[in-house]
Amino acid sequence: MNIDPIHPEFGARISGVDLSQPLDDARFAQIDEAINRYSILLFEDQHMNDAAHLEFTRRFGQLEEEHVSYYSRGEVTYIGRVGNIDDDGNKVSARQIKASTGNEMWHSDSSFREIPAMYSMLCAYEVPDVAGETEFASARAAYQRLDQTTQRQIEDMVGIHDYIFSRTKVGEDAVTENQRTYMHPVRQRLVRQNPVTGERNIFVGSHVKEIEGIPPEQARPLIKRLIAEVTRPESVYRHRWRVGDFMIWDNRCILHRGCGYDADKYRRRMHQTRVRGCCPSIAESVN
Ligand code: OGA
Ligand code: MN
Repeated sequence: MNIDPIHPEFGARISGVDLSQPLDDARFAQIDEAINRYSILLFEDQHMNDAAHLEFTRRFGQLEEEHVSYYSRGEVTYIGRVGNIDDDGNKVSARQIKASTGNEMWHSDSSFREIPAMYSMLCAYEVPDVAGETEFASARAAYQRLDQTTQRQIEDMVGIHDYIFSRTKVGEDAVTENQRTYMHPVRQRLVRQNPVTGERNIFVGSHVKEIEGIPPEQARPLIKRLIAEVTRPESVYRHRWRVGDFMIWDNRCILHRGCGYDADKYRRRMHQTRVRGCCPSIAESVN
């Protein structure tokens, strides 16, 4: 197995591994160490299917339910559909395409859940000829860039993450009635720490509506400033997808966003799984 960095601050390409085959414990341990260190891992030219994708995901912990079907129909599934193609191979509705443009704001998957996702894994089956990239940035590298006053200022802060707040930015009809009923704002630490490496990071993104105990007119500029610090252009890795790409990212410390594409003209079909986090971020210690 080879590990080659893909960006100066984070991310690595892993070669010499076939994810469609069961991994032995030693190989899995190397990958587990690499994700804690590099925050995103890219495996190219994989021949995956949903069963192998789910099995690999389970190596890292519990599967997280897919939130769109869970909170709109109460249906528990574990494979999220990313792009514009449904299970039958047809284009999805215009409403769904519009709702998915919410992914074009910088975010951390499932940060709107009390227990936020640990990792997301995306497998590319069909990709547009033009555009449709995904961008990634490290909130760990960004924390290190902050001046000490800001680091101290935000250390014990709590962000309020709210899916309804972030999704309705793309349109009032981007969320369903069930989502409005069941998806409540949750509290997340603004600073998190990797339990293996001890490195700290900022935890922000589009779902953050406010900061607990701080007036909105002060909280909003701070949230914006922190997102801007994480995603400054020179620190962004933009991934141009190829069929067979399999990407894992660490939602605890990575922000990502879709770059958009012509959904009328092109097909884009990617399958996503997520590993559930171990506990509410609010219960994590930072020391
Ligand atoms: C995701 C996501 C962006 C994209 O899969 O979680 O935000 O490029 N994807 O589709
Ligand atoms: Mn996402």
